[in-house]
Amino acid sequence: MVPGAAAGDFPPISALRPGFIWGVSTSAFQIEGAAHEDGRGLSVWDTYGQQGEIANHDTGDVACDHYHRYEEDVALMQRLGLQAYRFSVAWPRVLPQGRGARNEKGLAFYDRLIDTLLAAGIEPWLCLYHWDLPQALDDQGGWTTRDIVSWFAEYATLAAERYGDRVKRFATFNEPSIFTLFGSGMGGGKRDRSGVDTFHRAIHHVNLAHGAAVDIIRARVPGALIGCIHNVQPVLPSSPADAQAAEMCDVYWNKVYPDPQCLGEYPAAMRAAIEPFMQAGDLARIKRPLDWFGLNHYSPVFIKADANARLGFTFGDRPPGTPVTAIDWPIMPDAFRDTLLTVAKRYALPVYVLENGLGNHDKPDAAGAVVDNDRIDFLRGYIGAVNAAAAAGADIRGYFVWSLLDNFEWDQGYSVRFGLTYIDYPTQKRIPKASFEWFRALIKQAVVRS
Ligand code: FCB
Repeated sequence: MVPGAAAGDFPPISALRPGFIWGVSTSAFQIEGAAHEDGRGLSVWDTYGQQGEIANHDTGDVACDHYHRYEEDVALMQRLGLQAYRFSVAWPRVLPQGRGARNEKGLAFYDRLIDTLLAAGIEPWLCLYHWDLPQALDDQGGWTTRDIVSWFAEYATLAAERYGDRVKRFATFNEPSIFTLFGSGMGGGKRDRSGVDTFHRAIHHVNLAHGAAVDIIRARVPGALIGCIHNVQPVLPSSPADAQAAEMCDVYWNKVYPDPQCLGEYPAAMRAAIEPFMQAGDLARIKRPLDWFGLNHYSPVFIKADANARLGFTFGDRPPGTPVTAIDWPIMPDAFRDTLLTVAKRYALPVYVLENGLGNHDKPDAAGAVVDNDRIDFLRGYIGAVNAAAAAGADIRGYFVWSLLDNFEWDQGYSVRFGLTYIDYPTQKRIPKASFEWFRALIKQAVVRS
């Protein structure tokens, strides 16, 4: 018996609709490696690595070497029994300078990946932007200049025309609120350009780029199903005195993207701050028809007021006794159920959970097995929450685990592991963890049922 896969060990899934999609998600920079190969340009994350800004001086140079091992990785997905795989295209791999000259070798990599997925019966879900901005564009102002809307449009056109014959599921952005909030809003200025309100500018330009990309994909890909992927977590005050700070954080973390994209307006609390960057017709450019809402969820965040912080808030304490993961993220599946219900109602779109999972410090045991029962417990609770939200009426159509493989966890480098599959980085050996077998057994049961 596989550890964790004992009978009765699965969450209830009876409320999930027929055709519910089970998948996993990854992103280009976190797994591909081959950073200096086949004409790839640099991204801002290569620069952070070169500047030693990542834990243990890690870089994405090799990562999971997925660029060379994608066939083995698709075979893992096939073993899991997945119906879908969400990945991102590395903008600097296909347009090394961000615009202009195309890199045929980079483009061909995603052709091979997509063809291998389709041959394995796995639907490719393509995300255009998972944080790896071409360095050449950052040098010209990145998200702080309105020019980036046309740069992103050029990239979206290329991706739609090249892959749209085989890919129908397109996401414009992954978690825009996280890269703008941590990049400049709460980031302490390290990656900020001083002198202008880079944070609000960037928010508006990302939203405009999203709207432009939706129209481009819609016009070029018959049958395209398009969405944007948002990180939505309940933002809770550390103490009653922090209620206002938490509300402000909620606006910037959870609402500044989906509100204009789906409801056609910025939240009232920050409208004045965005006003200087608005041009006539912008809200209509941002609110384009969407087919689904992508939700990434991990845990609530606790916030306190901080008069010295740029936006007036910072991370605060959680209530004593809150269960947490090994990397100190609260475990609160009921909050996930509530988030699903809120999002489904507020934005009135079918919801796909496109990231959820547990980060820790897995290690193989003496027999070489990785028995990650904490991850199984987490997934059981959180998938149970999806079922509970569906039972309460939320239109939820899929659940994707973050992530297929252990990978480069941004500022944390390789020190944190989120995979269903363990990566032994020195050898690149893939070891499916106990959670892999558990998820595989769950999918099998779920698919038989529907
Ligand atoms: C999300 C990111 C993803 C990964 C997980 C743990 O915020 O989208 O790339 O880092 O967190």
